[in-house]
Amino acid sequence: MEPWEEHAIRRPTLPSRVTVYEVGPRDGLQNEPETVSVEARVKFVDLLTDSGLKAIEVGSFVSPKAIPQLADTAAVYRGIHRASGTRYPALVPNLKGLERAMEAGVREIAVFTAASETFNQHNIQAGVDESIERFRPVIARAQEEKIRVRGYVSTAFGCPYEGAISPDAVREVVHKLLDLPVDEISLGDTIGVATPAGVYDVIESLYDSGVARGVLALHFHDTRGTALANVYAGLQCGISTYDSAAGGLGGCPYAPGAAGNVATEDVLYLLDGLGIESGVSLPGVVSASRALAASLGRRPPGRYLGAVWGAA
Ligand code: HMG
Ligand code: MG
Repeated sequence: MEPWEEHAIRRPTLPSRVTVYEVGPRDGLQNEPETVSVEARVKFVDLLTDSGLKAIEVGSFVSPKAIPQLADTAAVYRGIHRASGTRYPALVPNLKGLERAMEAGVREIAVFTAASETFNQHNIQAGVDESIERFRPVIARAQEEKIRVRGYVSTAFGCPYEGAISPDAVREVVHKLLDLPVDEISLGDTIGVATPAGVYDVIESLYDSGVARGVLALHFHDTRGTALANVYAGLQCGISTYDSAAGGLGGCPYAPGAAGNVATEDVLYLLDGLGIESGVSLPGVVSASRALAASLGRRPPGRYLGAVWGAA
């Protein structure tokens, strides 16, 4: 008999506490048609800090030709107020990026590759193995400086150029990153095609190959409306770090058709409703999104934000 037939719903065991890793200032703004001013980005990050977020990806140190919107990330780092106990990572593609990040006082970086060769070529002009080789000196230098390193695996659930991606391909690149080593892996649904079935498949394959739950984070874009369901699937798998962007902005110029990240407010509403602790104030994140909206001249797409938009 199924549980619902006997009127005894079995509630899944979920983590009691999660980390919300905010990517709004980086992923959220890298795909905006206009560059948001340094001053507005500093204010955005400071309001996100005030909300209680403990990890805020402030920007990237990539080629300014690839992502002109974030070319002045160093100035944003110079302007923000860094709260003790909050991490302010930056995205870095190579040694040059690490050097620029260190000059700006960055203490945590994220390198990024993909489960798909074609996407990687478009995004960072390197195949998967080539990108891993490129990261080696970056990791060595970061270790000398005791800089924490996250590794992103983009297109973990599907690729804009190659279509379906197998969990085997994801597992292979995850192990290559862990061998470098990196401290954390974020699995990216870059174009927002995942459903909970795919989340179970990828995570099960990683667990089966010995990957520890604690090193994994999930990064969902919400192109097809499945991002929050995928977060819930991740919770069922015991994953306790979720990437999201205040207001639900985001996308990658090299991932055609991708919509924004799952909105931080929407993730927090889900977590609060489930009684899962995050230490983040939902109204605090709404304030940050409102301030950013004033600079963008439009309301960001997040669902919770839309629901409270008219309220004072
Ligand atoms: P390349 O052309 O192979 O690089 O690009 P290169 O080493 O040959 O250098 C070419 C030029 O770029 C040179 O300048 C370098 O100095 C400069 P030039 O001599 O022509 O004047 N350069 C740099 N400048 C500043 N900072 C640097 C840097 N590196 C080189 N760090 C490269 C390779 C990786 C640099 C380029 O393709 C790039 O910057 N790509 C970044 C793309 C990107 O940021 N994409 C978005 C982020 S990823 C994402 O959004 C997915 C994620 O959210 C997860 C998910 O959703 O799946 C993380
Ligand atoms: Mg992304």
